[in-house]
Amino acid sequence: MRELADKNGLLIGCAVATDPLGAMMRDGPTPYSTVLAEQFNIITAENATKFGHLSTGPGAYDWSLADALFDFAQRHRMQMRFHTGLWHNQLPTWLDESKHRSNEIAAIARDHLAAVGRRYGDRMYCWDVVNEPISDKPDQPGADSGPLRDTIWKRALGDDYLATVHHWAHEAAPHAKLVLNDYGTDIAGAKTDALYAVVNDLLARSVPLHAVGFQMHLLHGQRYDPSAVTANFQRFADLGVEIHITEMDVAIAPMSGDRQSRLKQQAQAYRDVLAAAMKVKGFTVFQTWGFTDRHSWVPKFTKCDDAALPLDENLLPKPAYFALREALQQAGQSHMPFPVPLPSDPGGRG
Ligand code: XIL
Repeated sequence: MRELADKNGLLIGCAVATDPLGAMMRDGPTPYSTVLAEQFNIITAENATKFGHLSTGPGAYDWSLADALFDFAQRHRMQMRFHTGLWHNQLPTWLDESKHRSNEIAAIARDHLAAVGRRYGDRMYCWDVVNEPISDKPDQPGADSGPLRDTIWKRALGDDYLATVHHWAHEAAPHAKLVLNDYGTDIAGAKTDALYAVVNDLLARSVPLHAVGFQMHLLHGQRYDPSAVTANFQRFADLGVEIHITEMDVAIAPMSGDRQSRLKQQAQAYRDVLAAAMKVKGFTVFQTWGFTDRHSWVPKFTKCDDAALPLDENLLPKPAYFALREALQQAGQSHMPFPVPLPSDPGGRG
C-alpha cells in the first residue's frame, strides 16, 4: 500500500498499539514493525502520546515510548500524527478538576502543548490538538447543547477555548498541521453541521487550523453511500482545510452472513470510503486505527469478538487489504491529490 500511496502523494497509515511498540523498543525489529514500515508512510501512537500516558506528575514526563515511535518513523521515512494534545479522556490521574482553579487548568493546558511542541514540533506532520471537541447532541438542551462538548478544557478556558489552544499549539509547533479530529461526522447530520460551523468560524477568524480529521469508526454496521462521504468531505475541503481519515475500522459483528461474506462486506466498506475520499482534492491522509486484528480496540469497546482491521491476527492480508490497494490503484489513474513531502524531502513542509 505504501508504494501506491507514495505514487499518489497520499499518506497512508495506522495507529501503533502500545504493547508491540514496547516490544519494538526493547527487542528491535519484530514481524509487526516490519509490516508497519513496509505498508505505511504515516503512523500515530494509539495511546502512548496521550496526556495521561506521557505525564508522570505535574510538569513531568516520560517520553521514552513516544521517542521510540518518533525514532522509528524517522528511520523509516514516515510521517507522524501526534495524537492528541487535549482530550477529555485518558488524562493524568493527578489532574483533578475539583482541586484546580480555572486559571491553573489553563496553565496546565498551555504548558502541556508547549512541552509537546518543544520535543516533537519539528518532527510531526500533523497534530490532533483537541480530540473530539464537538457535542454529540448539539441541538438538544443540557450541558452539551451548542456545538461544543462540555469538557474540563471548555469549562476552564471558556467557550472560545478551541481558538485559544490552537494559537498556543501553533506557537509551540509552527510547522505542524493542526487538526480538529472527531467521530460521527463522516456524513451529513446535526453533529457534522456543528463541526462545520466551528471550523468555518475558526477559519474566518484566521485561527491556525489546517485539517479536519474524520475518525471513521464503522462499528455499528453503518453503510455509507460513497457519494454522501464525498459530498461531506468536499464541503469541508471547500473551506480550505486538508481532509484526513484518521481512525478507520469496520466491525464485522453487526453484519449478517457467514464470516467470508462479512469479510467481503467489510472490504467493500473500506474500498468505498477510500475511493469516495480520493475524489476530493485536499484529501491527504488515510489512517486505520491499528492494522492487525491482533491489536485492535474494537473487541474491547464493542464487547464483541471482532476483526475490524485489514490484516488478520497473523498479520496476513484480508479482503479489506486488497480492497484498499484496489482503491489506491484506481485512484492513481483518475485522481492525483496534492503531493505531501516526506521527512527527508529537501523542500520540507509547506
Ligand atoms: C482508544 C484506544 O484505541 C484504546 O486502546 C484506549 O483504551 C481508548 O482509546 N477515538 C480516539 C482514540 O480518538 O484515541 C481512541 O483510542 C478511540 C476512539
